[in-house]
Amino acid sequence: MNTMQTRQAADAAFEQQEAGSALMYQLFDEAGQYDDIVPLGRGDPDFDTPAHAIEAARQAMLHHVDEPSPPEGILALRQAIARRVKAHNGIDVDPATEVCVTNGGVEAIRLMHLTALNEGDGLLFPEPNYNSYRDSLRFARGVLQPVLTESKDDFRIRPERVEAAITERTRAMLLISPGNPNANVISPEDMQAMLDIAIRYDLLILADDIYDTFIFDDFIHATPAALPGGKERTLTLNAVSKAYAMTGWRVGWVVGPADLMARFKELKKALSGGSSIAKQHAALAALTGPQDASHMMTDVLVRRRQLVLDALDEMGLPYGIPQGGQFLFADVSGTGVKDVDLAFKLLHDGHVLTIPGSCFGAPNENYIRIAFLTTEENLREGMNRFKDVLDQVRSTG
Ligand SMILES: Cc1ncc(COP(=O)(O)O)c(C=O)c1O
Repeated sequence: MNTMQTRQAADAAFEQQEAGSALMYQLFDEAGQYDDIVPLGRGDPDFDTPAHAIEAARQAMLHHVDEPSPPEGILALRQAIARRVKAHNGIDVDPATEVCVTNGGVEAIRLMHLTALNEGDGLLFPEPNYNSYRDSLRFARGVLQPVLTESKDDFRIRPERVEAAITERTRAMLLISPGNPNANVISPEDMQAMLDIAIRYDLLILADDIYDTFIFDDFIHATPAALPGGKERTLTLNAVSKAYAMTGWRVGWVVGPADLMARFKELKKALSGGSSIAKQHAALAALTGPQDASHMMTDVLVRRRQLVLDALDEMGLPYGIPQGGQFLFADVSGTGVKDVDLAFKLLHDGHVLTIPGSCFGAPNENYIRIAFLTTEENLREGMNRFKDVLDQVRSTG
């Protein structure tokens, strides 16, 4: 393909995705008409922000709002982030030069793309994947290079498939672990293999650790920047959104080597400047205060996951076992109805909100995403209604 053809193919892929995002918002809108909706769609935690984080924001509003807000974030928060990534992920960073605070994970994604990619550069992109990566890549005018993963493999990202997708355009690989919507945790062996590939082909790695507090069973979270030779080519994203149920506070961060982070900070300055002082103090309190709420959330998610798995087993729907995170991607290809039609039937006939796989890009039309971010009672009710709708679909075959 010449450059023009590559661009046209990329634009077509992105247009398809734009339709996916629009469809998701249509489902959210239509769900609003039902008082008894069971929400298995949105990915926002249903837990409460820790009280000490809220109090820290209140105190900051009273006493600190006149402080300067540097684009890279206040030093105390950058230091807390450096301690967190060292203790939790094994990544060594200097808070002065290798940490930048962002307005949530989404701004971090945008800035990672602009830092790592020039127009026409390829990003290896495991499918299925979180929409904001596509949305952002489109505006960075990057080229999406898909790497297919499948439910029968628990959505394992196979290193040999990653290597096979590399072309002379490839500049970076994206690794999200645990994943959204696939809930796969990349094993330490596979992570090492990905890093070896990145070194061999001189690629950057964009690592997204946003679900790293929610790891189930005996799975192990490994992050590439903690491996020998990993840090100098890796930008690692995280946020308080999931681990502390603080989606609406909009605080995230990226850590990476000083040379890449210098460019990242320049871009942050140009895009949005410093973030609100009050919310940075809230994030600081969340990171430095008691961590028991995060542990409690993991236990709750494990129980909810089991409830959904049992219901899907009863319905005879295959899935990749969620190894971490907050979602399950169920294979609905055997139901005889397309994912989008099934999602609308679930919504209109069962008042259950789910997300069709197509919203995450064309290769995912065999799936439906179920978020377990509601109470066990709601989940049980939702899965019962799911079963009723499916029985009806199957009987009218
Ligand atoms: C994998 C992944 N990365 C980043 C984000 C963005 O997080 P935030 O809500 O902090 O913008 C999300 C949100 O759902 C996500 O699933």
